[in-house]
Amino acid sequence: MQGASLDPEKLPVHVAIIMDGNGRWAKKRLMNRVQGHEKGSQAVRSIVTAARELGIGMLTLYAFSTENWARPKLEVSALMKLLKRFLASERDELTAKGVRLNILGQKEKLPADIQEEADKTMEMTRGNQGMVLNLALSYGSRQEITWGVQTLARKIKAGDIQPHEITEEMISDHLYTRQMPDPDMIIRTSGEFRLSNFMMWQAAYSEFFVADTLWPDFTRDDFIEILRNYQKRDRRFGKVKCSTSNDGSPQ
Ligand code: FPP
Repeated sequence: MQGASLDPEKLPVHVAIIMDGNGRWAKKRLMNRVQGHEKGSQAVRSIVTAARELGIGMLTLYAFSTENWARPKLEVSALMKLLKRFLASERDELTAKGVRLNILGQKEKLPADIQEEADKTMEMTRGNQGMVLNLALSYGSRQEITWGVQTLARKIKAGDIQPHEITEEMISDHLYTRQMPDPDMIIRTSGEFRLSNFMMWQAAYSEFFVADTLWPDFTRDDFIEILRNYQKRDRRFGKVKCSTSNDGSPQ
């Protein structure tokens, strides 16, 4: 199988992807932006399949940001249609592959029909243990942190906790990603070096990868190549390597 060159012991548990470049992909072909998103949906299917087959535990895809609501109405409604189609048409496929779906973001802001489709798919895939697929929809990291802070402030006001009792773990537990591992790696396509309001708390020690490929052209092989590079990285989480003595000199 492709991907056999990957070390199964060093696979990331949680991979997050900022899917960027649908518009430019379309523009290059004198197509409209919606056609770029359609092609981008196909790449979503192929990368979800690849991640599952490669043994990734959790895949988060940044599919629609809080800022994306400000795009032209036609583009927003086309994206909503694509999301609805994905949620409905992939239900059986996700179940067959053992993938559990989750939505991260302001679900209540999504059109009612999308919320319904999402609820159905989440319910149907709830018991699946193969991989978790998080779709970040109407997601924004600042909004997520604001919501978490408000929830904690309410608990303080009610006397349930004291301000000095707030810990990092408690903050993590008041985000959409509560009880989830932080992303080990974040991939952004289309050559842009930005987080764009994505997982700013959770990304503290994520390895960052930028692929020049535009999202609709992003393939399983591109994904494997990045995973290979990830396996070569030395993750120290701000500490020094184990092979270094206490005074910092190499052993
Ligand atoms: C960024 O490209 C992409 C998005 C804002 C939307 C991502 C959506 C999809 C990949 C398709 C639908 C998703 C699913 C899960 C079925 P851009 O439009 O900002 O591209 P540009 O920077 O080249 O203009």
